[in-house]
Amino acid sequence: MTMAPQHFALDTLATAVLFVDAELRIVYANAAAENLLRAGSRTLVGAPLPKFFLDCSRVKQVAERVSAESCPHTEHELLFARADNDVPASLTISPMQNALGAFAIELRPQDQHLRVEREERQHNLQEANRVLLRNLAHEIKNPLGGIRGAAQLLQRELRDADQREYTEVIIGEADRLQSLMDRLLTPHRLPRIESISIHEVLERVRALLLADSTMAHGDGIEVERDYDVSLPQLLADREQLIQVFLNIGRNAMQALAGRENGRITLRTRAARQVTLARQRHRIALKVQVIDTGPGIPSDLRERMFYPLVSGRVDGSGLGLSIAQTYVHQHNGLIDCESAPGRTSFTVLLPFNHPPAGGQ
Ligand SMILES: Nc1ncnc2c1ncn2[C@@H]1O[C@H](COP(=O)(O)OP(=O)(O)OP(=O)(O)O)[C@@H](O)[C@H]1O
Ligand SMILES: [Mg+2]
Repeated sequence: MTMAPQHFALDTLATAVLFVDAELRIVYANAAAENLLRAGSRTLVGAPLPKFFLDCSRVKQVAERVSAESCPHTEHELLFARADNDVPASLTISPMQNALGAFAIELRPQDQHLRVEREERQHNLQEANRVLLRNLAHEIKNPLGGIRGAAQLLQRELRDADQREYTEVIIGEADRLQSLMDRLLTPHRLPRIESISIHEVLERVRALLLADSTMAHGDGIEVERDYDVSLPQLLADREQLIQVFLNIGRNAMQALAGRENGRITLRTRAARQVTLARQRHRIALKVQVIDTGPGIPSDLRERMFYPLVSGRVDGSGLGLSIAQTYVHQHNGLIDCESAPGRTSFTVLLPFNHPPAGGQ
């Protein structure tokens, strides 16, 4: 925008710069800001700045602090809402108090490139861990069969019921370990791709969750649907996706058990302009499972997608790891945001990009 000659130079900057008045209404936006906010100056001038952010109150708080302390302040990881997608950005507010406005704003989108790199690094590390675990599981399975068989033979020889209790323990524990190893090994089947409806998948998951909740005395937990029914079919493995959302949903259910007014929301939306497995997609599928539970303890958040990491006494810690493996096999992305009262797992999947197969 080149309204006043003194602003002309700002239009040549790559950084988004805005001037706002004391009420945080936009007075001026340079060309980079127009581009970033996907709006022309006519829409921007006069509009309240906070409305462009998901967390409006945080922007207002920062501005209040800047005016109280009369020094600039930078806030990171703010999400600004664009029609196509939400963009994480950092925001610097500096006091100005002159004819041009009350505050100068600089907006910097968080580097997409860095985010992709971080995700890739994490992905590789997790894959290496999984291969290690899978090999270990194989190594444990073989002798385990032998141990179980020998214990059975021994049991037949024993006449004393007291002594047989010991062999029962060996057989029982061998079976438990066997089923754990089987679960560690299953995620490796190749996806069977067909055209499916995500809502059919979620309805199935919803029915299973509701059945679970009646069994586990979690009555009163509501499973709400918030579907965008205009979404097209997607190419994916139906059974694997059911498993993904069931594992996420079961965790939510367990987090809500015994609490009043627990609610799980299954939400579907279209996400625009997203990068998944290094591929840019004009449109992708976004599924969110949101619960009103206590949130995920912060020490677990970094590690919860790893196999065998659990916060529950009776948890095997495989649910999220399996979910992540399946989502990655579909070239998708799984992420989580959690705070007390609101935990949200987001799964992004390409609509029409056939999976690359097993990894
Ligand atoms: N929605 C949620 N709310 C609170 N905590 C959660 C939520 N989802 C996951 N967690 C935490 O993350 C941990 C790991 O979950 P994951 O599904 O991988 O394993 P698990 O549920 O412990 O065991 P499994 O799913 O194999 O029975 C859980 O034990 C729980 O502590
Ligand atoms: Mg689980």
